[in-house]
Amino acid sequence: MKASRPDFGVGLTFDDVLLVPKFSDVKSRRDADTSTRFSRRIPLSVPVVSANMDTVTESSMAIALARLGGIGVVHRFLTVEEQVSEVLKVKRSEGVVIEDPIVLGPDRSVREAQATIRDRDIGGIVIVDGSRKVLGLLTRRDITLEDDLDRRVKEVMTPRSKLITARKGVSMEEAKKILHDNKVEKLPLLDGKGALAGLITSRDIMKRRQFPSATKDAKGRLRVAAAVGVKGDHMERARKLLDAGADALVVDIAHGHSAYAIDTLKEIKRELGDVEVVAGNVATKKGALDLVRAGADAVKVGVGSGSICVTRVVTGSGVPQLTAIMDCAAGAADSGVPIIGDGGIRNPGDVTKALAAGASSVMIGSLFAGTEESPGPTVLREGVRYKLTRGMASLAASVDRRVRETGGSGPREDELIEEVIEEGVPEGVEGLIPYKGRVDEVVKQLVGGLRSGMSYSGAHSLSELRKKAEFMRITSAGYKESLPHDIRMVM
Ligand code: XMP
Repeated sequence: MKASRPDFGVGLTFDDVLLVPKFSDVKSRRDADTSTRFSRRIPLSVPVVSANMDTVTESSMAIALARLGGIGVVHRFLTVEEQVSEVLKVKRSEGVVIEDPIVLGPDRSVREAQATIRDRDIGGIVIVDGSRKVLGLLTRRDITLEDDLDRRVKEVMTPRSKLITARKGVSMEEAKKILHDNKVEKLPLLDGKGALAGLITSRDIMKRRQFPSATKDAKGRLRVAAAVGVKGDHMERARKLLDAGADALVVDIAHGHSAYAIDTLKEIKRELGDVEVVAGNVATKKGALDLVRAGADAVKVGVGSGSICVTRVVTGSGVPQLTAIMDCAAGAADSGVPIIGDGGIRNPGDVTKALAAGASSVMIGSLFAGTEESPGPTVLREGVRYKLTRGMASLAASVDRRVRETGGSGPREDELIEEVIEEGVPEGVEGLIPYKGRVDEVVKQLVGGLRSGMSYSGAHSLSELRKKAEFMRITSAGYKESLPHDIRMVM
C-alpha cells in the first residue's frame, strides 16, 4: 500500500503576521477602549496579566498591576503560609474600609511592632485588648527612631484618649473630612462597645483618586489571583488562598489538557463552591473545549511560547502562539469563556495581535521580570543592571523548590541537582534581563501600542478589534522590513 503524505497543519506566531490597516474613525488613542475580562466574572480595564512565576509575581507586582487595571497571579512556589501572606498584602494594600486591620496587644514590644510593620508593609497598627477594645494607635513614625526595642507598645502609642476615631458605618465623605480636619492619616472605626470595626486611611483615599481604573472587588480592595498545583497540598492551599481573599485560582500545570488538570478543576469547583478558576495551559481547540466543559472560568493558552521555555526543543511538542490562541478562542467561543494568551509577548504589537486573534488578555513573564516590582534584587554586570528571570521548569527553579520543601535540611545541592535531572529533563532556562524600572512604564508602552494598533484596525473596543482584524502572513523579507533597517541606530 502506498503511504499517503501526512497533512500537516501550519502554525504561525506573532512575527509571522501583520494586521492589515483598516479605515478608522478612532479620533484619538484615548477613544480606544481596552476594557476586557480576565475570567468570566472579573473585568479588567487593561488586558494585561502578570505571570505566576517566582521571578515575576508576588504582592508588589500584583498591587502594581491591579492599580493599573490589570491583574497579577501570585506564583505557588512558596509555602502555603507565604503565598497566603502575599495575597493578604494585596487585599490589605488598599480598600474603601480595611475590615480586618492588623492589630497588636499593648504589652508587645516595639521590636515586634517594627517587624509587623515591615513584614506587612503597613503604616501603623491598632493596639487592642483581648476583646478587641481599641487602646491606641502605633504608627511607623512612633517607632522608627526608638532606641529601646524592648519597650512595650503601650508606652509609645497614641493612647485612646488622644485618638481620633469614627463610628462604624461612617460615610467616605465624612471620613475624609475627619482625616483632613484633624490632620491625621488613620481613622480607626469603632462599634457601639468601643471595639475595633475597621480602619480608613488617607493613603487609600489618595490611591482611589490616583488609580481610577484599578481592578477592585466589591469591597474596594485590589483584586489578585493565585496559582495552585494539581497534587500534594493543592486543596489546602486553594482553601487558604480563598479564605485570604484571592479573587481567582489559577490551576497551574504545563500540560493542561490532561486528566490531572481536569480532575483538579472539577475538584475545586465541587469542594470550594462558587469560585473563579482559570485553567491551563493548553494550545488546541479540543484542549480549550475540554477545560471549558470541566468548568473553567478562563483558559490559559500557551505551550512552549514563553521566553524562558525550552519545552518545544526538549519534547518536540507545542503550537506557535498565534495559531494556539486562534484555535483555543474557537474552542471557547460558544461558552463566552475568556482566553488568556500566555507567553511570547516581546513587543506591544504582539499584544494587539494576540487580542485580535481572540485572546481577552495576555499574560506576561520575562518582560515584567526586569522591573522594580518583580521579586529579587538587581545584579550588576559590567556596569549594567539586570534582574533574574527563569522558567518554572528550569533546573535552578526545581532545585530551589526542593530546598524549600525539605526546609534546607535535605540532601546537598549537588545531590538535589542529580535528583531533579533524574526526574526529567528541565523544560525551562534561566537568564538575566535588563532592569527596566517601574512596571507602570512597561505597561504604558504595551497599552499605548495596543491603543494605536486598535486605531489602525478601526476598532473602538477589543470586541470590535476581534471582528475587524485581518491578518496577513508575511515573508522573512517583510519581517526584516518591519524592523529598523539600513541605519545605524543611536537609540
Ligand atoms: P514570557 O514569554 O512572557 O512567558 O516570559 C511567560 C510564560 O512562560 C511559561 N513558563 C514556562 N514554560 N518551561 C516552559 O515551557 C518553563 O520552565 C516555564 N516557566 C514559565 C508560563 O506559561 C509563563 O506564564
